[in-house]
Amino acid sequence: MATAEQIKSLIRSHLSMNAEQFYASALQIAAHEARQGHRALANDIRELVDRARKKPTTNNVIAFPQELAGLILSEQPSRPLASLVVDSALKARIERVILEFRQQHKLKKHGLNHRRKLLLSGDPGTGKTMTAQVLATELKQPLHIIQMDRLVTKFMGETGAKLRQIFERMRAMPGVYLFDEFDAIGGERDLGNDVGEMRRVLNAFLQFIENDTSNNLIIAATNNPRLLDRALFRRFDDVLHYALPDDESRKHLIANLLGTFRSPQFPLDKAAQASQGLSHSEIDKACRDAIKLAILSNKSRVTYTSFNVLLKERHAAYQGKER
Ligand SMILES: Nc1ncnc2c1ncn2[C@@H]1O[C@H](COP(=O)(O)OP(=O)(O)OP(=O)(O)O)[C@@H](O)[C@H]1O
Ligand SMILES: [Mg+2]
Repeated sequence: MATAEQIKSLIRSHLSMNAEQFYASALQIAAHEARQGHRALANDIRELVDRARKKPTTNNVIAFPQELAGLILSEQPSRPLASLVVDSALKARIERVILEFRQQHKLKKHGLNHRRKLLLSGDPGTGKTMTAQVLATELKQPLHIIQMDRLVTKFMGETGAKLRQIFERMRAMPGVYLFDEFDAIGGERDLGNDVGEMRRVLNAFLQFIENDTSNNLIIAATNNPRLLDRALFRRFDDVLHYALPDDESRKHLIANLLGTFRSPQFPLDKAAQASQGLSHSEIDKACRDAIKLAILSNKSRVTYTSFNVLLKERHAAYQGKER
């Protein structure tokens, strides 16, 4: 029979819904049983764990109520930390979130909490949404993206009540929660909303975040720096700033994205220079377009000339967007 410690560990990992820890505990029991000569039982346990591990985790994503469907996107992303190109200081802070989350039990023993309420701010296309995907991937958690702009537009005066509903649900559904473009509740006059009312909703939202005592990772993202006041910072464990990629980052990004489509002669320095001022997302698109072009013209490599044309196209689109 499994020891008392093993049974307790199994129960603890089930209650904290930590699947990996649960499997590890079950496998320890299997090893223990094998040592006792109970081979058949040990094999049965190992097989159960193997089967559960192979099952796609998306099956474990519980749905939100029907009326919120379309406003909350749930996914099981697969984006490793290595694919996120940010400066080393920001990377270190993201790594710290991952480390603290993974070892939260160690911290709890000393009465400390892992950092799990994050505010991401910065230019469009610089990796805020991608960071939420990376964190969900690295922590093996489902990602739920709450599209705040759509929520506000759809429910207007009822936004606060809907947010309360979402936060209540979240307690029973472990995962990474991204409140994307949460500044949508900051009060847009042109939406015809009552500004005072939207302020109240924003405050209620911040209160929900502050009062949340789950283990979930809660991320709010904005590209509106107007919102970033001290009162807001106070509610979060960490505030991460995203910026357009510097020279090194652009080189890194282009090399990563072109991969084997880049010949050794490809002038990476020149490409980095020519992409100055573009966001990660714009460079990502130019690289993908360049690869498509190479494939469609039956070439195995991207040429700098065609890449440069695509970058110029992106610059023009970017400036158009910025007015
Ligand atoms: N820092 C980055 N490193 C690598 N790829 C990136 C990075 N930032 C953006 N990308 C690429 O651009 C895509 C769009 O970026 P993302 O959605 O994360 O931007 P965002 O900061 O959330 O922008 P917005 O403010 O418009 O929501 C990503 O899916 C990814 O392919
Ligand atoms: Mg985003």
